[in-house]
Amino acid sequence: MPKLKLLIILNIHATGRFLVETIFWLEVLCLAKIGFKFLSLMPCILILEIIALISIMSFSTINIAVFASGTGTNARNMMNYFRESSIKIALVVCNKPGAGVISVAEDHAVPVLMIQRDSFYTDESCLHQLRDYGIDWLVLAGFLWKIPSNLVKAFPGKIINIHPALLPKYGGKGMYGHHVHEAVIKAKETESGISIHFVDEVYDNGEMIEQAKCSIEEGDTAVTLAAKIQELEQALFPPAIEKVIKAKA
Ligand code: GRF
Repeated sequence: MPKLKLLIILNIHATGRFLVETIFWLEVLCLAKIGFKFLSLMPCILILEIIALISIMSFSTINIAVFASGTGTNARNMMNYFRESSIKIALVVCNKPGAGVISVAEDHAVPVLMIQRDSFYTDESCLHQLRDYGIDWLVLAGFLWKIPSNLVKAFPGKIINIHPALLPKYGGKGMYGHHVHEAVIKAKETESGISIHFVDEVYDNGEMIEQAKCSIEEGDTAVTLAAKIQELEQALFPPAIEKVIKAKA
C-alpha cells in the first residue's frame, strides 16, 4: 500500500505519455494482481489519468506567433487553415497601431502583442512574452522589422518568413509590399513568385524552404502582379508551414 501511494505521488510530477502508461499499469495492477481490495483507489487513479490526458493534449499543441504589421491576409488564412489542427496561431505580434492584422486577430480571438522598436531591440520583454504564451514557432507575414538576434537564437530554425518575390532577387531592406512588385515590373521580368524561407540575422537571407512562380504577361502592373502573388501565398504558405513544423516535431 505505501509503495502504491509513493508511485502515485511520484507520477503526479510526470507529464505526458509516460504518466498515462504508468497509470494504466497501476489500474491493471489494482484489478488483476493485487486484488479488488484496492478498488477504492480507482477514482483517484482515474482523476490522475484525466490530468495526464489533458497534459498530453496541451503538450502536443504547437503554438505559432505570427509577426505582422499589414492587412493580415496571410494571418487570416493561417488562422482558418489551422483551425482544427494541433498547430495553433496563439499570438499576433504587431508593431503598427491600427494595422488590419489586429482586427483579423480579434475576429479569431487571438491575442495581440503590440511592440515598440526600442524595447524590441534592447531588452528581452518580447522574448519573455513569447515564452509566457508558450510560443514554439515564429512566422513572419508582412513584418518589416529585422528580427533581433536574441529571438533568432531563442528559436533556432523555428522562424519562417514569406517574401513576395523570387529571392535572392528583389529582397533586402526596403523591398516590401508594392515596392517589390514595382521593381519587378520595372525590370521587365517575365516571372515572379513567392519565397518561403527560414529567418536568420540577415534580411531575406535564410535557408529556402519553398519557392513558387507565376508568369508576368504583357500589360501586367504592380497591382495585377500583387494579386497573382497573393493567390500563391494563400494556396501555399500554410501547407508549407505545416510541413516544416511536422518534419521537426
Ligand atoms: C505579403 O505579400 C507577404 O509576402 C509579405 O508581406 C505581405 C503581407 O501581406 N511579406 P498581408 O498583411 O498578409 O496581407
